[in-house]
Formats: sequence, structure tokens, C-alpha cells
Amino acid sequence: MKIANNLSPFWMPFTANRQYKASPRLLVAAKGNHYTSHDGRQVLDGTAGLWCCNAGHGDPRIVSAIQQQAAVLDYAPSFQMGHPAAFELAARLVQAAPEGFGNVFFCGSGSEAVDSALKIALAYQRSIGQGGRTRLIGRERGYHGVGFGGISVGGIVGNRKQFGPLLTGVDHMRHTHDLERNAFSRGLPRYGAELADDLERLVTLHDASTIAAVIVEPVAGSTGVLVPPQGYLRRLREICDRHGILLIFDEVITAFGRVGSMFAADRFGVTPDLITTAKAITSGTVPMGAVLARAGLFEAMAQNQPENAIELAHGYTYSAHPLACAAALATLDVYRDDGLFERASALEDHWQEALHALAVKPHVADIRNLGLIGGIELAPRPGAPGARGYELFTRCYEAGVLIRVTGDIVALSPPLTIEPDEIDLIAETLGRELSTLS
Ligand SMILES: Cc1ncc(COP(=O)(O)O)c(C=O)c1O
Repeated sequence: MKIANNLSPFWMPFTANRQYKASPRLLVAAKGNHYTSHDGRQVLDGTAGLWCCNAGHGDPRIVSAIQQQAAVLDYAPSFQMGHPAAFELAARLVQAAPEGFGNVFFCGSGSEAVDSALKIALAYQRSIGQGGRTRLIGRERGYHGVGFGGISVGGIVGNRKQFGPLLTGVDHMRHTHDLERNAFSRGLPRYGAELADDLERLVTLHDASTIAAVIVEPVAGSTGVLVPPQGYLRRLREICDRHGILLIFDEVITAFGRVGSMFAADRFGVTPDLITTAKAITSGTVPMGAVLARAGLFEAMAQNQPENAIELAHGYTYSAHPLACAAALATLDVYRDDGLFERASALEDHWQEALHALAVKPHVADIRNLGLIGGIELAPRPGAPGARGYELFTRCYEAGVLIRVTGDIVALSPPLTIEPDEIDLIAETLGRELSTLS
């Protein structure tokens, strides 16, 4: 298939444009657990796109819901107006959320969900007379999208260094990665719950009265899959409670079954005050993000304002876009009807064993997993960080398996519809390519 006349105009995101365009990889179709490449090959999707296509690709129930919605109501504003699917979706999400959640704020992406959640946290603190709480705390190695709020609380240097001083009044806890104590953990690493106490250090440094919220990914993805140590998230919750700090779980990659439950909060038994989601909310079919808020946050903001006041001066043209709402409602039906979260749970052991069998392969420094998430950390080539990872990525793609690498860490997150023999194929392909990689 002809690719395109000119590849230059598309300024590709998070891509080495010149390297890519010298040897492009295009996807032209997708069905089930496979992509079709422009050169006509079937490529097994080991990453659910970008952690989003949890229901697999091209599910006719989702496709038809989007088609029907486009034909009936293509767009409706959500500012002082509404449409039924938005209210229905919000109600369903609240019902499915951990106990005690009351409201949903819609937006168009994970980055927007993060910025919305940070703003909600600040506005809430102000509304309860805690206007001095303006500080936001993130974590080293955290990824919270690419808005200025998200990169400010984020902790990946490459995503921050080009963009100046960012938001003021932000600090970061230490990350939880500890290869010395936790390498090759199956599931939650044993050591490191005490790293949550780093929040106490920041409270001592800044004083709790200045801190609005803490944001963490329950399982960090984009930094290269960091699974939280046993007891870490619970301890973080306790410290937040002690000091009146809101806890935000950024569940943009973990929500909707990735760890075998609707939300990672369910699996960990730790309830945050705000949850950010996106991606798998529509199984990646139509862009959408959402912030789920604990009951009481909205009410606190409303109570001191007149009935005709806008409680939160924030929103997007595409908040609760009808196509996204229709896609999300159909996706939630598919997750429920096909039991996909249970399926992810049932496959977890197989997934874990298939990945950990790669421990004997050359260059492998660590393997980590939870739910249908896998991370394989490679030792970098001396003097060339990322080169080994990138070569592995291109080789696997040529061999018919789409993986994702961040630097020298392979991050895997297949659709929840993955078959056991497809899990084996991902592992076999990785094993074969690792064996011959320099
Ligand atoms: C934890 C987390 N938060 C936020 C985002 C940003 O989402 P988006 O790319 O939809 O803006 C991502 C994307 O990978 C993510 O992993």
C-alpha cells in the first residue's frame, strides 16, 4: 500500500520524527487483537494501542453505537446544555466507582483529566476555607500527561526540561523503584511501603496547611511500569487523611480492568478522593477523559455559592461529547457482558509466568507485572541509553508483535481479550529477539 505523498507535515507526538519517517511503520486496520500494517502484515497488539483498547479492536457493538450516535446527535454543548447519554454515563460511572463517589467531570483526554482533577482539588480546598492549600505534590517518575499541570506534578525529566519553570508550588515524593530489594517481583513488590513516608517529609518541609493534593498513578505506566510496594498506597492514604490532603489516583491506564478490577483503587482496597480516567473508558475508540469525585466535593463548592453561580469555572468544548458518551456506554456494556475484567484476572497467572520465563534471557535486569501489565527492564547499552530498547521494539514489530518501550524498559498491556496462546506468542517473540539482540 502506498503510504502517503509527503510524511513531513505531520509533526508526530512523542516521536523521533526524522528517524521514524526514514523508515515508517503505519497501521491501516485493526480487528480483535491484531493490527494490519501498511505492508499487509498482521501485528499482534501487545499494548492495547496505547493502553486504551481494552475491549480489543473493532468490536461491532461499540462501532455501531458510535455510528448511530453520529447519525442522531453529532454534537451538543455541555455548557448550560446537556444530552441524555452524558447523564446516563456519569450515573453509570458513579455506580461502578468505589463506594462514596458522587460526581463525574468529563473532558477529552487523560491530560485534561489530570489538569481538571488538580483544579478541582484547589477549588475544593478554597471552598472549605483552606485557600492557603495551593501546593500540589507529585512523585518522581510520575506521568500525568502533557498539560502544564500534568508535567509540573509529573516526574519524568525528559517531559519537563524543554518547558521552563512550570507551575510553582509543586514538590515531588521519591519514586518507589528499588531494583536492589525488589527485582523480579511477581505482583506487588515486598519492600518499600515506608517510601510513602516521604510525604511526611514534604509536610514537615512545607506544612500541611499549604498542601492541597497528592497525585500518584497507582501503578505507574509510562515511566516503565512501576508496581507499588505492598502497603504503600494505604500508607499514603493514611498520611493524606492525617493532614487534610486530597489523594488523587491517576487511573488513566489502570481503570477499566487493566489490573482485573474496574479501578486499581478496587484492587488495592484504597479509596482516593479523585480518580482520573481516559483511554479504556471508550476502549480507545473516541477520545474521552473523566474525573470521578468523591461525594461531598461538589457539594462543598456549591454550598457557599448562590444557586445561579457556576460552581467550577472549568470545562471543555468536547466535555461529554455525544460520540464519546455513546462509545463509553457501549464499551461498559462490552466489559460487563463479556466479563473482561474477570478475564483479565483469570489470565494474570499465565501472563505472569510467561513474562517471568524471560528472566534468563540476555540483558534482562528486571521483570515486573500486575493484572495484564508487564514491564521488562533491560540493561542499557553502554553509552547509548534507549538504543537496545528501540531495536527490540522495531524487531518485534517486524516479527509481528507490537510492544512499547520507554527507554530500555518494555511496557506491555495487551487488550483484555488476549488469548493464552497470544500471550505465549508475545513472550516467545520477545525471548527470540532478546536472544539475538546485542
Ligand atoms: C497515568 C497517565 N495520566 C495521564 C496520561 C495522559 O493521557 P492523554 O495522553 O490521553 O492525555 C497518561 C497517558 O499515557 C497516563 O498514563
